[in-house]
Amino acid sequence: MKLEVENITAGYGNITVLRDVSFKVNDGGVVGVLGRNGMGKSTLIKCLAGLILPTEGTIKLNGEDISKLLPHARANRGVTTVVQGRGIFPDLTVMENLEMGRIAGGRGKRNRLEEVLGYFPHLRERLTQLAGTLSGGEQQMLAIGRGLMTDPKLILLDEPSDGIMPTLVEQIAATLGEINRREGTTIVIVEQNLPMIFSLAEYCIVFEKGKLVAEGTCEKIQKSEILQEYLAI
Ligand SMILES: Nc1ncnc2c1ncn2[C@@H]1O[C@H](COP(=O)(O)OP(=O)(O)O)[C@@H](O)[C@H]1O
Ligand SMILES: [Mg+2]
Repeated sequence: MKLEVENITAGYGNITVLRDVSFKVNDGGVVGVLGRNGMGKSTLIKCLAGLILPTEGTIKLNGEDISKLLPHARANRGVTTVVQGRGIFPDLTVMENLEMGRIAGGRGKRNRLEEVLGYFPHLRERLTQLAGTLSGGEQQMLAIGRGLMTDPKLILLDEPSDGIMPTLVEQIAATLGEINRREGTTIVIVEQNLPMIFSLAEYCIVFEKGKLVAEGTCEKIQKSEILQEYLAI
């Protein structure tokens, strides 16, 4: 699904966070969103998901202006969001969480349970376990798996590596890459874990104080001064 963000400004009440942000993601593309804490990355994800609405500018999905659509209407068009901190239901079982994902898709789609468990075999052994008792990495897999149950065309991920063991981060990155290649799913991923971003994305956009201040192929970003300048690495 092609995503076009044109000159969006957004924030919370009187507070403007994002200013005049524009970028494009091709159908099937993977774009990484970089920037230090507090620079507006999660606000961008919320804006794309429809949790907050831009006060200016437009967001287009395959050419359709979705800027004013609420989250469920965007979900109906194939947008799924994996929020920062995972947002699973801790008191429901793994199976029930996945079922909630299928319902959230809301489009009477085929049941993707077998495919999702194929991507995340870890979850198959834990279907009857309460989600709150899973490890951090397993919870993240469940959050992504729940998103996949909606049969998404665009996946928005907010720092999926946050608080997860390095080996599981690699595994999650590899699985996201596989999903992208096999299903052609477009991905926008916020990450501070640069190896994860560089293994997965082909293009990166960098935020500083709510503005998109640099962009380019991961190769270009890696070779340039951008990382030192905006990420203090
Ligand atoms: N719900 C909110 N209400 C008011 N301000 C917020 C809210 N959420 C985030 N902010 C502010 O917006 C700015 C960007 O935050 P955020 O998008 O979460 O950054 P990042 O994800 O890059 O760390 C910060 O200054 C933050 O304090
Ligand atoms: Mg954030």
